[in-house]
Amino acid sequence: MAKPLHIVILAAGEGTRMRSSLPKVLQPIGGRPMLSHLLDTARAIEPQAIHVVYGSSADAVREAFAGQQDIRWVLQAERLGTGHAVVQAMPDIPDEADVLVLYADHPLVPVEVLQDLLAKENSELTLLTLFLADPAGYGRILRDRTERVTGIVEQKDATAQQLTIKEVNTGIVRARARRLRGWLEQLGNDNAQGEYYLTDIFAMAHDDGVPIETVQAPESQDLQGANDRIQLAMLERRYQLRAGRRLMAAGAQLADPARVEIRGQVAVGRDVKIDINAVFIGDVELEDGVEIGPGCVLQNCRIGSGSRIKAYCVIEDAVIGGDCDVGPYARLRPGTRLADSVRVGNFVETKNIRMGGGSKASHLSYLGDAEIGAEVNIGAGTITCNYDGANKHRTVIEDGAFIGSDTQLVAPVTVGRDATVGAGSTITKDVPAEHLAVSRPRQTAIKGWRRPVKSKGSTDNPAKPDNPDNPTKPENKD
Ligand code: UD1
Ligand code: CA
Repeated sequence: MAKPLHIVILAAGEGTRMRSSLPKVLQPIGGRPMLSHLLDTARAIEPQAIHVVYGSSADAVREAFAGQQDIRWVLQAERLGTGHAVVQAMPDIPDEADVLVLYADHPLVPVEVLQDLLAKENSELTLLTLFLADPAGYGRILRDRTERVTGIVEQKDATAQQLTIKEVNTGIVRARARRLRGWLEQLGNDNAQGEYYLTDIFAMAHDDGVPIETVQAPESQDLQGANDRIQLAMLERRYQLRAGRRLMAAGAQLADPARVEIRGQVAVGRDVKIDINAVFIGDVELEDGVEIGPGCVLQNCRIGSGSRIKAYCVIEDAVIGGDCDVGPYARLRPGTRLADSVRVGNFVETKNIRMGGGSKASHLSYLGDAEIGAEVNIGAGTITCNYDGANKHRTVIEDGAFIGSDTQLVAPVTVGRDATVGAGSTITKDVPAEHLAVSRPRQTAIKGWRRPVKSKGSTDNPAKPDNPDNPTKPENKD
């Protein structure tokens, strides 16, 4: 039977190379902290316990994971090295357990790789190594003539000869707790960085005659660390590629899997089409046959089946029914609820509204705090004046109403069922059902009116109009 497994995640480092006020383990990948990815992986192995050694920006780190009861937090008050970090967790780990050490700055290690490591059940010490064309920065694996591991040397302590070694330490180690405890007790800090290196246990194991097994990681990119922003960006790309592949496996067609950004959870139905440069944030659900145009940003929303979101829409906290057309260039703000077959066209902004089935707002409108029925037509340039400077008010537009272009609806106001509002109206009073409301000056036509002409010799002053009927005659006399 497998021994109880305790996972220790080292997450106390400051991440100085990030040059950031955010602690390294909270730097995001796919929109969430690096550490949360590793925690997911750790949980997938179903260990007996997960210990997270934390230290720098302690409060921020704890707060980011508040409520995750399965984490055993271990404070490393002083960051004296990776060996010292593991020592902090050991009092809580029984001798007969197996310990798997993970580094929080290697957040994308695939669970299968860890399972390979754990499969070596009889080994007392197993190490995950990696071959890198450019091993700079990593600890190098030292082997003797028979290929047995004899130790690990850190970059800063390595000789020129050792620096040419391409097999590196991922930091991921699995060891019997009893053995590990013994080696950790012997660690010193007489090295280039004055730190207690976890990596020094390998030379001790070798001296003790304990065979060190290695698992060579199959694919390098997932296992690389994130010490600086360049490496972080590389891991981000890696993560995005994986996330894109998951969407494709679930039935979405991505125009280019290298040009989609997933910063949260995206659920897709069948035959969803996603064009380039779409960004998904939070929880997004795209039902069967949804089409997302290029450059759209969708945050926490659900799009019903067959709806088309055209280029460059920004949609946040919204629920969109089936067979809708949105955009291009529409902005749907929080609280937008569209029923089926609704059209919200270009340069339309909505906020906290409901629109019933078949309604349309095809161009250039602001619709906020409104209850819009079914089969309503909202003309171009319609504005709900929902804010009086102090409070927000609601606009109600009942089924079948027709709002002419360039209408202002001064809320609170109701336009009744099948009512019509003439273009250019400012509606301040309720419009009864089936009525026409128009509020604009009557049009006048002036016969024979002549436009002003420039007087001779004048350069910039407009001519004085000589037509006594000219309504544009200036008021001020000189
Ligand atoms: C470490 C390894 C190196 C390996 C590399 C892989 C050691 C001595 N070196 O080097 O062999 O190739 O990782 O990326 O282990 N941490 C603590 N407390 C500390 C110090 C570090 O929790 O006192 C944590 C960090 O937050 C980080 C991890 O341990 O998650 C590794 O520390 P880091 O300083 O990044 O080690 P490297 O120099 O990268
Ligand atoms: Ca590191």
